[in-house]
Amino acid sequence: MPAVPVYLETFGCQMNELDSELVRGQLLRLGYSFVDRPEEAQVVLFNTCSVREHAESKAYSRIGLVGKRKAAGEQVLLGVLGCMAERDGLDMLRRHPQVDVLCGPGELDRLPALLDAARRSETATQAERVALAGNRTRRTATLHAVQDDLETLDLSRAFDPDAAGRARHSAQVRITRGCNKFCTYCVVPYTRGAEVHRPPDHIVDECRRLADTGVIEVTLLGQTVNHYRYQHGMALTVGGREAPQVGPGLSAFRQPAAPGVTSFARLLQRIHDEVPAIQRLRFVTSYPRDFGPDVLKVMRDCPRICRYLHAPAQSGSDRMLTLMNRGYTRAEYEAFVAQVFEHLPDATLAGDIIVGFPGETDQDFEATCDLVRSLPFKNNFIFKYSPRPGTVAIDRFPDDVPDEVKRLRNNQLLAIQSRTSERVHAAWVGRTVPVLIEEHLETAAPTTVRGGVELRWEPSTMPPRRRALRGRTPGDLIVAMDVPSGTEGGDWVGRIVPAQVETASALLLQGRMSH
Ligand code: SAH
Ligand code: SF4
Ligand code: F3S
Repeated sequence: MPAVPVYLETFGCQMNELDSELVRGQLLRLGYSFVDRPEEAQVVLFNTCSVREHAESKAYSRIGLVGKRKAAGEQVLLGVLGCMAERDGLDMLRRHPQVDVLCGPGELDRLPALLDAARRSETATQAERVALAGNRTRRTATLHAVQDDLETLDLSRAFDPDAAGRARHSAQVRITRGCNKFCTYCVVPYTRGAEVHRPPDHIVDECRRLADTGVIEVTLLGQTVNHYRYQHGMALTVGGREAPQVGPGLSAFRQPAAPGVTSFARLLQRIHDEVPAIQRLRFVTSYPRDFGPDVLKVMRDCPRICRYLHAPAQSGSDRMLTLMNRGYTRAEYEAFVAQVFEHLPDATLAGDIIVGFPGETDQDFEATCDLVRSLPFKNNFIFKYSPRPGTVAIDRFPDDVPDEVKRLRNNQLLAIQSRTSERVHAAWVGRTVPVLIEEHLETAAPTTVRGGVELRWEPSTMPPRRRALRGRTPGDLIVAMDVPSGTEGGDWVGRIVPAQVETASALLLQGRMSH
């Protein structure tokens, strides 16, 4: 029987990229094949994101296109996976009857069965085509974590060195699912459910098996990785083996980890020591509170742990931080950053900022500008506040900052960030840095970036094309360099090479490979 061609498109964060990779491995094993264009597919899957309205509208327009194909009589099966499926739930089926299968991010292990049912019969019932956590999502009983079938999806990972969908040298590994923080603007605790921590042995084993396939860079994923905490010796196990666990509340982090607990610091240390083939160990996202000196000490003492933190501040105004329920003040954020640089003077820092949160005044915004000016962020992703159904903010705080003001603030902050980025990058000029080469590209030479704006060349004034390599430092700074003469660019991809940094701009470092 010929393989059923599937098109899978991913929206949203790294968590979704990893889910897509796992779904792909699972379907490949069942005999499905994957195609690059939706027109060639009999099954179209969108792995969706709900974090901002914009992310949802992109997915809806794709769903609309598939709807047109179906209306024209084409036989194609449409599945909506991920956070939007979970958030919209059955409403999605009512408003978009072209959707055949719905599968929330917490139920992806059930996707093959849903596809099977939908393909077998047009009369498959809704129950056979839909898997959502629904109100079960927020059930915090530890029992739920133990019965967490989703763990089997991570455990079933295809350790295939040729697995498409990821660069062969880098991989992501989940340490925590879900989130317990309930920032007032955020859908994630509702779409991904309660915070569940994977047993450390599963994580270390996954890292080891990835390293065996040639992976040299692993990024650990969790919404707030430093809140990773696994209590050993709990009664609840699966077949005598440790099982995933629901995370504790914030107050648990006021004291140091008790004996019998694997903390985030301990987990990092274990992976570093037990899987030395991983030359770069990264993690996202860090939560700016409860980031203990224990983690910083492990980062300082373990050479293969990247000294890079993505720790979103979200705002520089205490009033906004309180309304956002972030659980820290600006001064606490600054103290956290100071502590990071005290332990790791060459660390790099990045983050996220929301502008135009309800009630944000010029003064609040100025406080954020000041934060971005004064702290050494190598970059910040800046988002305009988007009210999300189901969150506390949409119910309690009117979205009163006009879109025009959000746009202005967004642009102003980008310009400020660009100057901060320039400053951070400039400090690396003259140093030699290890660069993991990620791609080989043809580029106008040299890559010219000014004030955060990449110069576009007119075809007539284009400089001669030059072959360039692009990669990243352990601190996640982008480095571009020429392909050394007499070598093939492609041969360098996936290798770590030393580079002498010659110039810097807001977006990247320009260097020369030093042998
Ligand atoms: N767990 C991470 C963030 C995950 S969501 C953390 O807490 O840092 C990624 C980013 O999207 C957030 O950091 C926030 O800046 C942004 N974001 C989330 N909800 C948003 C909303 N409703 N409107 C605009 N930006 C939002
Ligand atoms: Fe959302 Fe806050 Fe959880 Fe991050 S910590 S995922 S912003 S609720
Ligand atoms: Fe989006 Fe869900 Fe990730 S809402 S950002 S795909 S956790």
